[in-house]
Parts: sequence; structure tokens; C-alpha cells
Amino acid sequence: MDKYEKIIGMAKRRGFLWNSFELYGGTAGFYDYGPLGAMLKRRIEDIWRKMYVIEEGFYEIETPTIGIAAIFDASGHTRGFSDPMVVCSKCDHSFRADHLIEGIVETPDALPASEIKRLIDEHGIKCPQCGGTGTFGDVSSFNLMFKTTIGPGAERVGYLRPETAQGMFVDFEHLFRFYREKLPFGVTQIGKAYRNEISPRQGVIRLREFTQAEAEIFINPTEKNHPKFSMIEDTVLRYYPASHQRVSHPAHEDDGGIIELTTRDAVDRAIVAHEFLAYHLVLTHLFLVRVGIDPARMRFRQHQPDEMAHYAVDCWDAEVLTDRFGWVEIVGIADRTDYDLSSHAEHSKKDLSVLIEYDTPKQVERIAVKPDMGVIGPLYKGNAGKVLAALKGLGEEDLRGDEIKIEIDGEIVPIPRDLVEYETVIEEVRGERVIPHVIEPSFGIDRIIYAALEHSFSEELVAGVTRNVLHLPAEVAPVQVAVLPLLTRDELITPSLAIAETLRENGVFVSYDDSGTIGRRYRRNDEIGTPFSVTIDYDTLGDDTVTIRDRDSMAQIRMPIGELAETLRAMIRHGFSDAATRHNQIF
Ligand code: GLY
Repeated sequence: MDKYEKIIGMAKRRGFLWNSFELYGGTAGFYDYGPLGAMLKRRIEDIWRKMYVIEEGFYEIETPTIGIAAIFDASGHTRGFSDPMVVCSKCDHSFRADHLIEGIVETPDALPASEIKRLIDEHGIKCPQCGGTGTFGDVSSFNLMFKTTIGPGAERVGYLRPETAQGMFVDFEHLFRFYREKLPFGVTQIGKAYRNEISPRQGVIRLREFTQAEAEIFINPTEKNHPKFSMIEDTVLRYYPASHQRVSHPAHEDDGGIIELTTRDAVDRAIVAHEFLAYHLVLTHLFLVRVGIDPARMRFRQHQPDEMAHYAVDCWDAEVLTDRFGWVEIVGIADRTDYDLSSHAEHSKKDLSVLIEYDTPKQVERIAVKPDMGVIGPLYKGNAGKVLAALKGLGEEDLRGDEIKIEIDGEIVPIPRDLVEYETVIEEVRGERVIPHVIEPSFGIDRIIYAALEHSFSEELVAGVTRNVLHLPAEVAPVQVAVLPLLTRDELITPSLAIAETLRENGVFVSYDDSGTIGRRYRRNDEIGTPFSVTIDYDTLGDDTVTIRDRDSMAQIRMPIGELAETLRAMIRHGFSDAATRHNQIF
């Protein structure tokens, strides 16, 4: 049994994850979060909110999960968001065509459809479902968006959003006003996104419905220094730049190409293009470590040009090393430039540029054109307005010759020289109009949850018995405290229930458990990652003290019930040792 199987087995048994629609046989690409899974997910999302919404000040918005076609025409998803597909003519199963030739070429996902088809035929690839050979038809392009209709009738096409990002781009004008028309600013959204994967094979790693936490940070394209860079510049990350990668898409290897550098060095040596991007790599790292990812099994891998999404000029993935799937992307941090806003401006015919004000207004020389409208008006009649607009747009060189030429509706129109005068004027200019650029950290919350489970999972031999432990950080553990009477006796159960109630009133998420031996109950809680167990014994009845047991070290301290809630809250935030040292009563 590999780690994936062990973790998914535990996750199903203990109520973290269940196959969706299992009652009816289930279908690939959908998972339900059970009680513990939903709690873990909420806690991870809350930490993300703390870091991005509260600490960075990127307000959260909520936009529909369905979008009209115009949005995805502008974003490029109706055209370019597809995977190559083949169908077996014998069993009618569909497959990702590039997956069928994995192992034959190094970068199957970078090949054109015709080349994939040629390789499938040349290598006599068998249908993985029915074993037939020569049964695959042509490779087609399958768009990954779920399509629907909005209202009755087929004419109003809509799509389930493939990323939460577009809702934030479409709201740009409102957001810019909300942020008092100043760059940079950031906005966030946590919500469901959908991709109709052709044949997902990687369990919880590749879902058709999944949760994204995305931040879109709108910046001035000429100001890519980050105001808080000095606070993170000494943080060391494991970088895997594109130039260090031996093959284009090194899913399972690092080829020794990972380099550990401070963030300052990474920017100074042009490994990471600019401070804004680098700052967000660090923030991503801090978040991932805080929710339970092992930094030694994490790297930041830069995309090769041929794997970049259509909207990005640069992208770094936070990848984690997993037992079954090798390196898996869990976050993408992309420089989307002005791709999205420019495209939405073009498709919506709205000006989405913003004025970047100079520190002090500039005095700028400009040509003021003065056409003789008394003559031009009657001469060009219906076109006079267009002639005037074209003349006003001319520069000094265009006005120098004997004849002036302008273009009206694609035709060159000569204008007699003596009908146009011009002069040089000095004008005060407050700033310049630009389309903001976007830096986007995009987190796949479901993959992060799986990675946190795998990286925190361990099997430990204690006194000849294996204990399974999730060493999840206390802040994300679904159950924070287990309250356990030492024995299942009324005189211990009554005070235990009262303690559990008091802790709940103090905002601690508690489970009460009195079934089975104390040893079994500790093991059950270790397995689901409960960081602290409070045990009520016969001494409690005499001196109003209880023990707190630490999941990781299995050390215990004794403490007065009156100090319990406060100490546990401190432990959840800062760990067991600090609080234990304060009491200095480890036994
Ligand atoms: N917004 C980036 C992505 O969905 O991949």
C-alpha cells in the first residue's frame, strides 16, 4: 500500500473525504469533504484569508460561478482552454491523447494533435480500457469548460467558470474606484471553479470541481518594486528556474537543478524577474508551511515558455513532492501582464486604462492643429467631423509638406496645405494612462489539503505498536482538543463534559470521547491530527487539575482547570512547548 492509499483510506474511514455520489457508483473527479475534511478546509481557507485579506489588505469579493460567453471569449478560454482527446471506436472511451504517449516522448503535452496521433499509430498504443489496437480516431481538441444555458432556450450560452480570476477582472472599474483610483491594489476570491477533465486519473489531485483561492494584484507596469520587499528579502526559497530544467516538463525530477537562495539574491541575479513576483513567491511559501507543507518537499518551479498559460509571460508553480504522483503543482504565481484587462477592454469596448499621476505635473510641448473649418466643413460635408479628428491627431512631421494626407475609413484623403495651421503650445500633463498589469497567486485548495495530509502523515512505532499520526499544525487541525475522561465512570464523565462545554464557550473546537481505553482514544485522536488531549482523572476530583497531552511528543503537563482555556488557545497558536515551559511541570 503506498502513502496515497493509506491516507485516502484513513481520510474515508475518519470522515475527511468521500467519493461524491458513491451511493450511485460515484464518478471520477468529484470528492465530498466529510465533517473533518470540511473543518480542515475551512481552517486552511481562514489562514489564507488572514494572510491575504487581513495582512495584505486585499479585500475579498464574490462573483458568480457561472459566466456569460462574452467573458470567456475575451479571456481566451473558449478558444484556447482545451486538451487533446481521442476516443476508442471499440469501447467508446475518451482519453487525454497526450497521456497515451507518456514515456515515448519527454513533452507529450507540448505536441500538436497530428504528431500525437502519428505517435499513437506508430507505437500501436492499445486502448487502456478495452485493450483494442488501432481503434483510436483522430486527435480532437476538447474544451475543458462545462457548458450550460442561461434561462430557457439554447441561445444564451454560459460556462461554469474555469478560474475565479475572471470575476475580478470583469469588476475592475468598480474595484479601481473602491481603491480610490490608486495602484497597486489587490483583490481576492475563494470559491469553486470547474474543469471538465477528459479522464481524470489522479484521485483528489485532479478534480472536475475544485476550490481556488486567488489574488489578483493590479500594479503599475513601470513600478515592479514591492513596498514590503525588505521584510521578506532574507527568506530562502528552493528555486527551480526554467533554465535549470533538463526537459521541458520535469514532473517527477529535479535533476539537481534546484537552488536555494535568499529572495534578494533571486531578484539581484535575475532568477526571479522582479520584486512583486518574488514577494508573492515568499508569501506563498509562508502560507504553505503554516498549513502543514514540508518545506524540504517543496520547490518553486518556473514554467518553460511552451507550457505557460495563454495569458502569462512568466509563471512559477509551488510544487510539492508526493509519494505517488511525484512533483505536483499546488499554487501558480503568474505575471499576467495586461493580457486580461486589455482583452476585456477590447471585447467590451470600454476603456480600462487608468491614469498614473506623476509626482509633479510635467510641462509638455504639443502641436495644436487649427483647421479652417469654415472651408473644410462645406468641402467634406458628412465626413467633416472625421477629417477634423484625423487632423487633430497629426504630428509636426505630418504637417510639414505641401500637402497633408489623412486616412478616413481606410482611404487616404489629401487636404490642401493652406487649410491647416498649427502652433506649438506648452501643456501641463498630470500623468499617463496605462493598462495595469496583474500578478496572480492562484491556490488549488484541494491539492494543498491533500499535500498537507501527506506531508503530516507518519507511522511511528511506540512500545511495539504502530501509531498513525497526522502532525498537522494545531492551527489547521480539524479537532483542536479532545476531552477524555481517563475511565468511563460517571464521577469522571460529569466533570469532563463540563470542561468540554467551558472550552467550547471559549471558542475551542472540542471533541468529547469516552469510548474504549484511554490508549485507543489517544491513538484515534493522533490519527486525525488532534494536537492536544485533555484528560480528567481521579486527581482532578481532588485538586481541580487536568493533564494536557501533546500529540507530537506525547509529553503531558498538569494544570489547573481555570487556566486551561487560555493555555490551550496559546498552544493552538504557538505550539505545546512554549506553554508547557511556562508551567514547567512536564512529567
Ligand atoms: N487563474 C489561474 C488558473 O486558474 O490556473
